Amino acid sequence: MRSSALVLVFLCFVADAAIVEHTFNVGNLTVSRLCEDRVITAVNGQLPGPTIEVNEGDTLVVHVTNESPYNMSIHWHGIFQMLSAWADGPNMVTQCPIRPGNSYTYKFNVTGQEGTLWWHAHVSFLRATVHGALIIRPRGGPKRCPFPQPHHEVPIVLGEWWKANVVDVADEAFLTGGNPNISDAFTINGQPGDSYECSEKHTYMLKVVAGKTYMLRIINSALNNQLFFKVAGHNFTVVAVDASYTKPYKTDVVVIAPGQTVDALMVADAAPGRYYMAARPYISTGPQGPPFDTTTTTGIVKYKSAHGSSPPAMPTMPLFNDTATAHRFFTEITGLLKPGLPTVPLVVDEQMFVTFGLGLAPCEPSQVRCNRTAGSFAGSMNNVSFRFPTTTSLLEAQYKGVSGVYTADFPNNPAALFDFTNLTVNTDPSLQPLRSTVKGTKLKKVKYNATVEMVLQNTAILGTENHPLHLHGFNFFVLAQGFGNFNATAAASSYNLVDPQVRNTVAVPVGGWAVIRFVANNPGVWILHCHLDAHLPFGLATAFEVANGPTAESTLPPPPPDYPTC
Ligand code: C2O
Repeated sequence: MRSSALVLVFLCFVADAAIVEHTFNVGNLTVSRLCEDRVITAVNGQLPGPTIEVNEGDTLVVHVTNESPYNMSIHWHGIFQMLSAWADGPNMVTQCPIRPGNSYTYKFNVTGQEGTLWWHAHVSFLRATVHGALIIRPRGGPKRCPFPQPHHEVPIVLGEWWKANVVDVADEAFLTGGNPNISDAFTINGQPGDSYECSEKHTYMLKVVAGKTYMLRIINSALNNQLFFKVAGHNFTVVAVDASYTKPYKTDVVVIAPGQTVDALMVADAAPGRYYMAARPYISTGPQGPPFDTTTTTGIVKYKSAHGSSPPAMPTMPLFNDTATAHRFFTEITGLLKPGLPTVPLVVDEQMFVTFGLGLAPCEPSQVRCNRTAGSFAGSMNNVSFRFPTTTSLLEAQYKGVSGVYTADFPNNPAALFDFTNLTVNTDPSLQPLRSTVKGTKLKKVKYNATVEMVLQNTAILGTENHPLHLHGFNFFVLAQGFGNFNATAAASSYNLVDPQVRNTVAVPVGGWAVIRFVANNPGVWILHCHLDAHLPFGLATAFEVANGPTAESTLPPPPPDYPTC
């Protein structure tokens, strides 16, 4: 009697939505990496920052105090922010930055999603060191997960490290209008691993028990690199991506773009010993592309029963330009069909065809070290290079009806149709006009609850590349992906309308396209952008303005009292 009453109390307790509260002090932290001491910006003196754990349905409250010398804002990557757009975080999109010495409390409900997400700074390159995992468990406990409960689980946060101040790296790239300096290392949970100088003691170690199952919650928080990830002697079963359950997918390699997450089960079924886990870049531009960080980060999986000190086994990593392996991983995974999860909407209200990639634009006056003849890098979508506002955030402008901050005229189609993925666009003088972009703060306005379909088409301007495109505020269905120019007739038969992947970040195939579909069921302003930080400040972005719905439950409430102003 007594014990069953206790069980009941426990179940009710777990089922109740709770308020989970955290304090983030963002400030300087001195850490030693790669043989030198470096002052970084970090949360609560931790790198990675604190892991946040909530149950689905909880309210998350994070008090952020900015004790760093830089403007700050925190984005809760992948969180829907239903009716809480004020807490989304991208600098100058949903808020002005938190100035040094100031505070802002992010408060939002975590509803309708489960799995691994993360949080990160959304200003300059500061997310290099200001980031952490955000884990959403099913309400009602782990039995609600659609896979056997692992023995143990662990965040695997993949990062990127510079022997430089990352704000300087960002500023330098902007001033010159070119690529940022490449990084000096990649990291696993903040540790580069023993393949780097002075780093033997900075190696992440996962101790395992033979026969047990481990869930790796893998997050790519690297700024500018997609990564291959492997563990020598072990295989994975992927059960979720971007906090969306997948059909169990077996693989020996995980491919993960900046912004994405992968939940992978790993059984410790190898001979007891030590095994390297390793990550290094997937470079879609191939050998003719710009220079990149060719190093490999490693951690060690150590069986508790293992003795001896022979060197850990190293996995064979894919070649840097192994697009076939990347494409296989990015396209073979399918979504899990489960009662209660959203299904693909079949009627489209807003059909968009959006070309995107890099290009060149005249140097801005503020780009003082930019080559005035060659011009500056410019990212663009449908020929518009996104310019961030400087005086009022887009969301505040929308809410208060401030004019002159943005226009709602982002085009549904590119200005011209051409052979998008043919590299001759860069050399044929007659194609020169196709290479020029305009700068502007153009948003796409959609009605509340509209179903939006976007064909995202990479262009060859300045070279083709796999760009991870991330949409704030919504998950989307990835209906189809392919190489070359999108052809509606040919592609139609390949649309997966039954069990497509659900994501918040899609790595669009190099020189190819992806078709995504989502329901704009959340009023506010939501940025869509390339999650390579090298491309965001150059304007590879646009944003959706989603109107309020007809009821109070579909209307964005006013901003909180401590909402930062510019
Ligand atoms: Cu993970 Cu707009 O960001």
